[in-house]
Amino acid sequence: MAIPAFRPVSYSCTTLTELMIPSYANFGGKIHGGTLLSLMDKVAYACAAKHAGNYCVTVSVHGVNFLQPVEVGELVSLLASVNYVGNTSLMVGIKVISENVKSGFVKHTNTSYFTMVAKGDDDKPAKVPGLTLETREDARRFLEAIKRKELSKRYQIELDNTKTILHVDEELHLLQQERCKLAF
Ligand SMILES: CC(C)(COP(=O)(O)OP(=O)(O)OC[C@H]1O[C@@H](n2cnc3c(N)ncnc32)[C@H](O)[C@@H]1OP(=O)(O)O)[C@@H](O)C(=O)NCCC(=O)NCCS
Repeated sequence: MAIPAFRPVSYSCTTLTELMIPSYANFGGKIHGGTLLSLMDKVAYACAAKHAGNYCVTVSVHGVNFLQPVEVGELVSLLASVNYVGNTSLMVGIKVISENVKSGFVKHTNTSYFTMVAKGDDDKPAKVPGLTLETREDARRFLEAIKRKELSKRYQIELDNTKTILHVDEELHLLQQERCKLAF
C-alpha cells in the first residue's frame, strides 16, 4: 500500500485493554512495573507502526512514573496516540488507566511518551507521513512534544557535561551528607 504524505491522528489512535492476572503480580501482590512497561511498548508499537505504515523500533521513553499501584483483577487500558512526527521518528503519548470493575473506580496510573523510529525494508530509518492535527488538543500535544524534545536535548547535554567535568576526588566530601560509607 502506498504511504500517504499525511495521516490524521485518529487513524492510528490505539487502545489496549488487559486484565491484570495473578501471574503479573510481584511478591507484594501489586502488578509489576515491568508488566505495564511491556504493555506500553506494545501499544506504542501498534500506534506508531499504524501511522508509519512500517516496522518501528523504540528509541527512548520519557515520563515513566507510576503514580498509583495497580491491583490484580483490575482492567488496565492504555490509550495511545501519535503526538508528534519528525522526519523518521514519532512520539507516541500513552495514558494508562486502571479500573476496578466492581466499584467502577478508575485511576490514572501514568502518562508516558515513547519515541519510535520507523524502519524501511533496508533496516534504515524511513520517512513517516506528516500528522494532520484534527483538534485543538492534537495541536496542543504537538506543541508540547516540541518543547519536550528541546528540554530532553538540553538535559542530555547537561548530563554529558556533568559526566565530563566531574572530579570525583574533589567531590567526595559531598558523600558525607548521604546514606553511604566509603570502603576504599
Ligand atoms: C534509533 C535508530 C534507528 C537511529 O538510527 P540512526 O542511524 O542514528 O538514525 P538517525 O540519526 O537518522 O536518527 C533517526 C531518527 O531518530 C531520532 N533519534 C535518534 N536517537 C534518538 C534519541 N536518543 N532520542 C530521540 N530521538 C532519537 C533522530 O532524531 C531521528 O529523528 P528524525 O528523523 O525524525 O529527525 C538506531 O539507533 C536503532 O536502530 N536503535 C535500536 C532501536 C531498537 O532496537 N529498539 C528496541 C529496543 S532494544
